[in-house]
Amino acid sequence: MIRCTINATSRLLDVPAMRRLLDVLREDCGLTGTKEGCGEGECGACTVLIDGTPVNSCLVPVAHIEGAEVLTIEGLHGHPLQDAFVVHGGAQCGICTPGMIMAALELERGSSLDEIQTTLAGNLCRCTGYSSIYHSVKAGLDRLP
Ligand code: FES
Ligand code: FES
Repeated sequence: MIRCTINATSRLLDVPAMRRLLDVLREDCGLTGTKEGCGEGECGACTVLIDGTPVNSCLVPVAHIEGAEVLTIEGLHGHPLQDAFVVHGGAQCGICTPGMIMAALELERGSSLDEIQTTLAGNLCRCTGYSSIYHSVKAGLDRLP
């Protein structure tokens, strides 16, 4: 059994310790907002936060989250970044979008384009709409308090 908190809800997960966190989130917890792109730690589509730190959930055995707090895209509940992706066309096919937003949570209001690009360097978009993604992130950050 793995004891943890996912999106502010306490969980007791009866799953094999080495099962991928990505699979546990999607298949055991029904949190399908976290996407699988490469499955090899290369694309960032599966990014979630563990105790506030972005990780590729396809590389993390679920045993790693014992006692930890996990945040997925479902836990954001209408964050300004989510709204900005809708308004500014940051999502195309949408596979990379949750990972982009989870990675962008590290940024602050007023972050520069360089800082946005550096923070999102590990997140790939196969639709290649990077300028609308960066513009969406900038617009979302500008709406933060
Ligand atoms: S699916 Fe995890 S990094 Fe690509
Ligand atoms: S919107 Fe399609 S992979 Fe980025």
